[in-house]
Amino acid sequence: MQVLITVQEMRAACRAIRRNGQSLGLVPTMGALHAGHIALVRAARSQCDVVAASIFVNPTQFGPNEDFAKYPRTFEQDCAMLRSESVALVFAPQPEEMYPTGASTIVEVEGVGDRLDGASRPGHFRGVATVVAKLFHIAAPDKAFFGQKDAAQVAVLRRMVRDLNFDLELIVCPTMREPDGLALSSRNRYLSAEQRTRALVLSSALNAISAAYRAGQKDVARLLEAGRHAIAAEPEVRIDYLAIVDWDTLMPFTEARAGALVAVAAHVGSTRLIDNTILE
Ligand code: PAJ
Repeated sequence: MQVLITVQEMRAACRAIRRNGQSLGLVPTMGALHAGHIALVRAARSQCDVVAASIFVNPTQFGPNEDFAKYPRTFEQDCAMLRSESVALVFAPQPEEMYPTGASTIVEVEGVGDRLDGASRPGHFRGVATVVAKLFHIAAPDKAFFGQKDAAQVAVLRRMVRDLNFDLELIVCPTMREPDGLALSSRNRYLSAEQRTRALVLSSALNAISAAYRAGQKDVARLLEAGRHAIAAEPEVRIDYLAIVDWDTLMPFTEARAGALVAVAAHVGSTRLIDNTILE
């Protein structure tokens, strides 16, 4: 496994793979890897000849009062995991390499990028779209792999790929969960044992909404009420948003339908968690 820290090295390594006639799968991450990230790597390995992963805690997607400084950094452990998954290339640049002095070009996905997390975390998706566009240019992968866990991010990136004509396929992989339903997240390690138990209310609220929908309830206001009621059982869990939206536009529905995205964000103590499900 090669670890590359400059844009030039990464570009050359990816170019060599393409020249060799091999397909390249890219898995962008911020490190602190868990089984959710590894599921993306395995999907990439099953669909592409060579897998590249990036590990970069991207400063531009964090707000001024967010957790950039304390975001978990477990580089050695991450590399060991990626090595044992037969990843060929790891791109791990420093912030100055990705954002040299004077960098002033940004990618803004208007509309979609201002909804859900984009509304709660102004500028977040501008940072995500900008860094992912850069990674796509540097690696030029055939396929790039993202988790449904960050469903709004997927909507933003799908739109960016379409609007800016990136020549790649964006593959979305299902959310990996703990056996009790908690969605895996690098931020779960901020939770105390008690908070971790409280956080289960997010997946159970999503399950309650799915169950009510399957039982025939189509009215979004009532479905959301069922979800809010479930979350209210944990007074220390504060909802940021709970919404039923179109997964492409992130615009709210008034009547639920199959394929609709049910998305939740909530603070458990000082930790902000997100989760979602698709209505069937
Ligand atoms: P990060 O939070 O490290 O996530 C990297 C990828 O792993 C994302 O596509 C995310 O959706 C996926 N992922 C996280 N938890 C998952 C889970 N429980 N199951 C399945 N997939 C999961 O998302 C980012 O980094 C950044 O915004 C990034 C795209 C790298 C840009 O900086």
